[in-house]
Amino acid sequence: MTNSESAPVEFDVSKPSISRVYDALLGGKDYYPSDEHVLEHLRETMPEVDELAKLNRAVLGRGVRYLAGVAGLKQYLDLGAGLPTMENTHQVAQSYQPDAQVVYVDNDPIVLAHGRALLGENGLTRVITADLRDPAAVLAHPDVQKMIDFSQPVAIMLVGMLHHLHDDEDPEGVVDGYLDAVPVGSHLFITHFLHTGDESRALERSFLDFLGTGRFRTREEILRLFRGCELVEPGLVPLSHWRPDGIVRDKLTLVEEIIVGGIAVKS
Ligand SMILES: C[S@@+](CC[C@H](N)C(=O)[O-])C[C@H]1O[C@@H](n2cnc3c(N)ncnc32)[C@H](O)[C@@H]1O
Repeated sequence: MTNSESAPVEFDVSKPSISRVYDALLGGKDYYPSDEHVLEHLRETMPEVDELAKLNRAVLGRGVRYLAGVAGLKQYLDLGAGLPTMENTHQVAQSYQPDAQVVYVDNDPIVLAHGRALLGENGLTRVITADLRDPAAVLAHPDVQKMIDFSQPVAIMLVGMLHHLHDDEDPEGVVDGYLDAVPVGSHLFITHFLHTGDESRALERSFLDFLGTGRFRTREEILRLFRGCELVEPGLVPLSHWRPDGIVRDKLTLVEEIIVGGIAVKS
């Protein structure tokens, strides 16, 4: 379904949704009892879990600032985009590159429902409902074909997303599917839950049991997602250390340690 279709979007609220749970952790109010159940369990396991979402959302803004302001990219494929909130990709990118084109992709129809309001603000963006595990189908989507020129560098964004793919869903293969379609000079932006030991394992259990997804991978596993690309400074680091706006304490809190990210350039 594309934004051009005006039929009401329907979504199932009896099951928890990754996008609604994440949005609730960020302080949003569009959640339902099924999501609340997940939120309660996550907060019971780790009371600071809301901070995990906030760290992720904050680095998304800083990352896009880098992609648009430093790397000068004008095309963005935001995969697993989530509900519109503060500092959305198109707003940040277009403040540096006014003609930047952004396609938001999410498999949760609620994102399209909310995205329509956001699209009213800006003609250079599209929201599509599609499953990012099928790169060929996403890349062939008419809105992607219309908005993205695959002869020019593209920002492939998988922010807060790949940990929601199970190992048997081949996250590395999914990343390759997108990277293979874009030219040298394109960038890959990933943030990911990090396995650090017993604490991260307990939170992983909670995510898997109550939300159904949420893999905490090792640093080596996450680095493999970037293969074929060169990480820009400061590399793959805890999000608080990725080009922070202010001074960061050396000693990170547990929640700061369990989420990492980086941006790499296809070379
Ligand atoms: C935690 S949110 C991250 C949102 C945003 N990228 C951010 O970092 O602020 C993950 C999003 O990925 C979406 N998602 C999960 N699996 C997906 C799939 N197979 N295809 C497309 N989107 C998916 C969820 O619906 C959710 O909106």
